[in-house]
Amino acid sequence: MSSNILPEPPDELKQLSHSLSLRIRESFDSDGMMPFSRFMEMALYEPGLGYYSAGLHKLGASGDFITAPELGPLFATCLARQVAELADTLGNYDILEAGAGTGRLAADLLRQLPPDKLPGRYLVLERSADLRRVQREHIQAMAPELADRVVWLDQPPEAGWQGVLIANEVLDALAVERFRMGEAGVEQLCVTRKDDHFAWSRREAPAELELAVKHAATSAGLEFRPGYRSEINLHLADWVAAVTCRMTRGLALFIDYGYPRREFYLPERSDGTLMCHYRHRAHDDVFFWPGLQDITAWVDFTALAEAADRHSMDVEGYTSQAMFLLGCGLDQVLAGHGANSADGGLALGAQARELTLPGLMGEKFQVMGLGRGLTEPLCGFSLQDLRYRL
Ligand SMILES: C[S@@+](CC[C@H](N)C(=O)[O-])C[C@H]1O[C@@H](n2cnc3c(N)ncnc32)[C@H](O)[C@@H]1O
Repeated sequence: MSSNILPEPPDELKQLSHSLSLRIRESFDSDGMMPFSRFMEMALYEPGLGYYSAGLHKLGASGDFITAPELGPLFATCLARQVAELADTLGNYDILEAGAGTGRLAADLLRQLPPDKLPGRYLVLERSADLRRVQREHIQAMAPELADRVVWLDQPPEAGWQGVLIANEVLDALAVERFRMGEAGVEQLCVTRKDDHFAWSRREAPAELELAVKHAATSAGLEFRPGYRSEINLHLADWVAAVTCRMTRGLALFIDYGYPRREFYLPERSDGTLMCHYRHRAHDDVFFWPGLQDITAWVDFTALAEAADRHSMDVEGYTSQAMFLLGCGLDQVLAGHGANSADGGLALGAQARELTLPGLMGEKFQVMGLGRGLTEPLCGFSLQDLRYRL
């Protein structure tokens, strides 16, 4: 979708975006540009001004996009079955949720878990101070009797813990580098200023980016031709290490839209995977009112598996969201609730379609489970194993 048919933001929000744009320009390097990764980082997280930091209505019907937990309780109900299975294996355990959005998943998950399988602590690692406030209010309102188990962290846990890490649509919100193949080698795509707007520009890639791009191409058995553009997350492995390094035993579940590397870098996907969300419209203009829209990149799940390997974790499973939820018993949940609910299960049926149909969230959202010290099979990965595609 072209950005010139997107709704106009109100004047006070445009003012916010102008302030952020000014701060971005002031942070340009001496050559008048900055790597796209820094632009994305500032557009999303610049204190007080970035998309996730400025107190805007982001998730849900009145925001810009809707995530699986925001559709209703079905996603959390299925996830709770996987967590309960792990609770049987682990005994005392904690949940660590990274990037908890509005707190909806936390509240629903706590309410869906049987009392004897509740986590000792529900830890939340949330970068946005504004969203922490929203989460606190939501959890207090929706699950008051369980709210005292929820603890917000500024950093990943420093002491050893065992349990389940959940990150739904968090990896896609991490800043990525953007590159282009030039005639002479890899180029770093940068952001510069043209008249009153931001525009693309480029410079020779720093060694770290060049090496990472070459590794991506070689490991996928692909050749990136001149003119090919895409993204790469240089800090994914570090981030995964930071959030999992003190997990002594347990499972880290990453749920996001993405592909195995060979599909991520297909020659026909020659302009990468960046996607912006504004008022429930998806489009590709990353320079549209910085700070007022979400900017995301699809996830290279092979990179996630490589990160696991580097940090002594095992890829316990990789499957589509549809097959994960069905493996967790989505059909049994529907059967159990339909007869008892006032609408005969209509609302849950609508959520199930959205979560599982291939044209909706079922296929483009994928689930990867990284384990440490686990030997028992996991219900979520019992129906389909896509690890051979990594
Ligand atoms: C697209 S939202 C998804 C929210 C929620 N998980 C859901 O599914 O509704 C991305 C979330 O990740 C958070 N986030 C982004 N980077 C993060 C980081 N490095 N550590 C923790 N949270 C982060 C954002 O503030 C936001 O809460």
